[in-house]
Amino acid sequence: MTQTFRMDKPQPRLLDETRQGVIGTPMDRPDGPLKVSGQATYTADALPEGCVHGMLVRATVTRGHLRDIDRDSIADIPGLLAVVRDPRFLRNPAQGMAGEAPDQPGDRIDYHGQPVALVVAETFEAARDGALRLKLRFDSVAAEVDPDHATEVEPQDPTESGDWDAAWSGAAHQVDVVYTTPCHASAAMEPHAAVAEWQGDRLILRGALQMLRFNRKELADAVGIPPEQVQILAPYVGGGFGSKLGIGTEAVAAALAARELGRPVRVVMARQTVFDAVLRRTETRQHLQLAADAEGHLLALGHDDRVSNLPGEEFAEPVSSASQFLYGARATRFRQDMVRVHRVGAGSVRAPGEAVGVIAIEAAMDELADALGMCPVELRLRNLPDQHPVTGQPFSARALAGCLREGAKSFGWSDRQAPGARQEGDWLIGMGMASAARPNMLVKSAARVRLSAEGAVVETDMTDIGTGTYAVLTQVAAEMLGLPPGQVTVKLGDTDLPGASGSGGSFGASSSGSAVFLAAKKIRDRLAAKLGCAPEDLSLQDGLARGANLEAPINDLLAGDVFVEEAEIKGGKTAESHFSAGFGAHFCEVAVHRWTGEVRLRRMHGTFAMGRVLNEKTARSQAVGGMIWGVGSALHEDMSHDPRTGHVVTRDLANYHIAAHADIPRDMQVVFLEERDDFANPLQSKGVGELGISGAGGAVLNAIHNACGVRIRDIPATPDRVIAALEAAGR
Ligand code: MOS
Repeated sequence: MTQTFRMDKPQPRLLDETRQGVIGTPMDRPDGPLKVSGQATYTADALPEGCVHGMLVRATVTRGHLRDIDRDSIADIPGLLAVVRDPRFLRNPAQGMAGEAPDQPGDRIDYHGQPVALVVAETFEAARDGALRLKLRFDSVAAEVDPDHATEVEPQDPTESGDWDAAWSGAAHQVDVVYTTPCHASAAMEPHAAVAEWQGDRLILRGALQMLRFNRKELADAVGIPPEQVQILAPYVGGGFGSKLGIGTEAVAAALAARELGRPVRVVMARQTVFDAVLRRTETRQHLQLAADAEGHLLALGHDDRVSNLPGEEFAEPVSSASQFLYGARATRFRQDMVRVHRVGAGSVRAPGEAVGVIAIEAAMDELADALGMCPVELRLRNLPDQHPVTGQPFSARALAGCLREGAKSFGWSDRQAPGARQEGDWLIGMGMASAARPNMLVKSAARVRLSAEGAVVETDMTDIGTGTYAVLTQVAAEMLGLPPGQVTVKLGDTDLPGASGSGGSFGASSSGSAVFLAAKKIRDRLAAKLGCAPEDLSLQDGLARGANLEAPINDLLAGDVFVEEAEIKGGKTAESHFSAGFGAHFCEVAVHRWTGEVRLRRMHGTFAMGRVLNEKTARSQAVGGMIWGVGSALHEDMSHDPRTGHVVTRDLANYHIAAHADIPRDMQVVFLEERDDFANPLQSKGVGELGISGAGGAVLNAIHNACGVRIRDIPATPDRVIAALEAAGR
């Protein structure tokens, strides 16, 4: 039995003592050449012998029941094998870390586009033909699809402190505004896919999934077999952003069809299905109330929001999460209403909560700075709380002030002028800024490390969803074992390997990296014993062990043996004693066209402090990617639903606009401030991916205001909205 290490107290900063010198460097991804040459096999790529093809059939009513499937309607299709219908089909994907099957509604339909059957054929084309032509009969009942009209409202427990009325009414300045954000799609590049194969009672599933340890249980529960009989393989995943956290409808359908037919079945979602049958990010309506004294000290801070989901889904976007700890106020109020609508289910989409909540709080803070006539950076610096305002926990490490100051300096914030003052022809130029924050987590994770004369092998069921796991785990092992990275092999994405955190919530690199660190540390202890020195005196570099005036090649210490060690880590007392989060500051410059309302981003700087940087290149890519996502949510992204049926209208990448190359300038700069978070994990690192999004869109909205003097509170700030605001302001 592997002992589980609990993070109960700060650990020595061993990675500052080790000698290999690869941790933190911008090392290239070892998987990069495989990916760019097409050799990395994604789920849909490798077909087992005899594999057939399934295509999901979806409901064409919003709410009701499936009454009848007319199998004869497609009997003429050559190569047609089956129309599979099973009460174990899922309504929607599982929520992240559920560990059990989501709703299995049988014949009940809860949203337009819900997968109800699978057409299986010898070829993909025949299956698709069948899925499109299959005649289904539904009973239909009235359904609410619009959150603005929904009557089923569930107020969640509020979080409140202080005397609100006194704080609010006694303030010199008040901001009382409503921001709205639309639904977002994850829009991962790789469509959701599954290839299922049964070997006797054992189910082998290749899947596009983020969290295999959980997915295995979810799939087993859905199909009705013990988890030990399920193996999931996902060596490469083409992006997830939350949409592949839980087991998907495609995986369960493929598994059931494969059992029924006795042949492997591949199910790949069409791009449109990815949009309208995968969990969306909820739309939000956010009510911000900020009140300050004449010096800009916050007296009242209120952030109420309304989100939506399908009936029965527990997930509620944690919209005000960061608003609860970014700033302090004498009185605070955070309330949430959940409304039930018959739209595709809502779940985690990159930086759930912060991605939309920090846009609104940071835009409202800008409005308050405006009312005060105060520099927005100064307003934030003035309101940093000494501890987490709601929980009272001390911050483990918080360099927000440093990010604000350093970011302002490197960006050239002091050149900012009054709204509307800077013009270049028909373009109005403005600068905006925003804070960034994202809670950091440590999730249970295990890994095995083998060291032999051939080098080191790292084994875990962790995934690399494009984030750089292969690179980061290579670096942790190489650093700890004193080997060049080329002598380390990382094996991922197989549930037969020790179970990891999976990729989600920006906790993957730190959690799985900590498990590798601990396993490698045990090997170091064994090498120290062989060398004859104390573990703390051991130094390993380029295959050589040194300590206590002794020196020997690692291979001599191994003496032909293979050292195998496994370790597991999970969160402990430090998660209670301290509040750990990454922080940052965004600064950007935009141009707003006076007549067309077009907004162009001209440059953007992100300054972040998120503990030890494990790989400077992949961390930077995450940060820039997050910032770009933030820009997209401020200016482009808008998932629209038909007001009658609730079906997704913008359901491909032509209609659902994400930021493209032409939207993003070359000048996207990222600076990491040196930091160690001793309470986070033994690596002293924190999550980065979702930190980059947090606040980025707020900085863009604030820059729009500085450019042309109008506030856009319904995002995205598309040209029609900017023109209307300019006209309303008489500009
Ligand atoms: Mo993330 S939204 O937890 O993949």
